[in-house]
Amino acid sequence: MILIGGSTGQLGKEVIAQLLRRNAKGLFAVLARDPEKAKPYADQGIEVRYGDYDRPSELGPAFAGIDRFLFISTMSQNRGEQQRHVVDAARASGVRHVAYTGLAIRDIATSGVRELMESHFETEDRIRASGMRWTFLRNTMYAEAIAQIAGPKAPAEGVFLPGGTGRVPYALRREMGEAAANMLLQEGHEGKTYTLTGPSSWSYADIVAALSRRAGRPLVYQDIPEAALADGLRAAGLPEFVIWLTLGTIRDIRDGQYDLPSRDLATLLGKEPQSLDEMLGAVFA
Ligand SMILES: NC(=O)c1ccc[n+]([C@@H]2O[C@H](COP(=O)([O-])OP(=O)(O)OC[C@H]3O[C@@H](n4cnc5c(N)ncnc54)[C@H](OP(=O)(O)O)[C@@H]3O)[C@@H](O)[C@H]2O)c1
Repeated sequence: MILIGGSTGQLGKEVIAQLLRRNAKGLFAVLARDPEKAKPYADQGIEVRYGDYDRPSELGPAFAGIDRFLFISTMSQNRGEQQRHVVDAARASGVRHVAYTGLAIRDIATSGVRELMESHFETEDRIRASGMRWTFLRNTMYAEAIAQIAGPKAPAEGVFLPGGTGRVPYALRREMGEAAANMLLQEGHEGKTYTLTGPSSWSYADIVAALSRRAGRPLVYQDIPEAALADGLRAAGLPEFVIWLTLGTIRDIRDGQYDLPSRDLATLLGKEPQSLDEMLGAVFA
């Protein structure tokens, strides 16, 4: 039996949609903390198991009889602590194989968001040391993040961000979910670390060139100072954590931290991932 963690989140929903398309109903259960959010799964006859990573004493029953666990990372500020609970509960319950969705980054020690993102690597270390079998899916930045960071007006107005000429091998969340679903239904992935990134990397100038093609007129990419973006985010009233995460992420883009193109996503998909134009079409639809 396979268990899908983070099932009510955006990536989890994509994984489950792909599992259902592959007629895998009955082969997997979903883990959720909120019965209301999990109701659509229960209504489809999918087994729902309940567990909150902040309540470790309740996690044991969720893992009973589970052979393979897709551990989709959380986004909480206490992620490191939450994920230690999950790994320990999975091991104690006899889970055989954990597939963890971490982060594809060049050097976590110099990342602008190290304090949050190093927990991905601590979790990998804990899984490795646990004796359970493992697969690490080190995820690239979702193409959806282009729209989140550049803003919904980018297709009409261009991009104004301190990203320099840094490049990212973006991929659609849907395709990351499809790759994870394929991996879960196949054998031979144990002990493997996949750099789940697109085959080509793209800068903000590349993105604006593609948006200009879509718009049929030239748009601009302006590489603004980081302080100007910080002022704009504060003026918009965003919480300090979001500002810190946004600035640190864009600094990492500028520094080439995510520039790790790979064939691993294409291999797990069994096809070419979507092109930049296709991804932009999807995220700005
Ligand atoms: N590569 C990228 O560009 C990128 C971008 C954003 C995030 N990420 C990472 O990828 C992960 C998945 O992305 P996503 O878009 O699917 O995120 P998401 O929609 O926020 O999904 C997170 C999932 O984790 C669950 N969760 C959070 N805290 C939990 C807890 N204490 N106990 C049990 N479940 C808990 C959530 O449950 P609820 O539905 O109940 O909240 C949800 O199902 C994120 O969490 C983050 O680590 C990567």
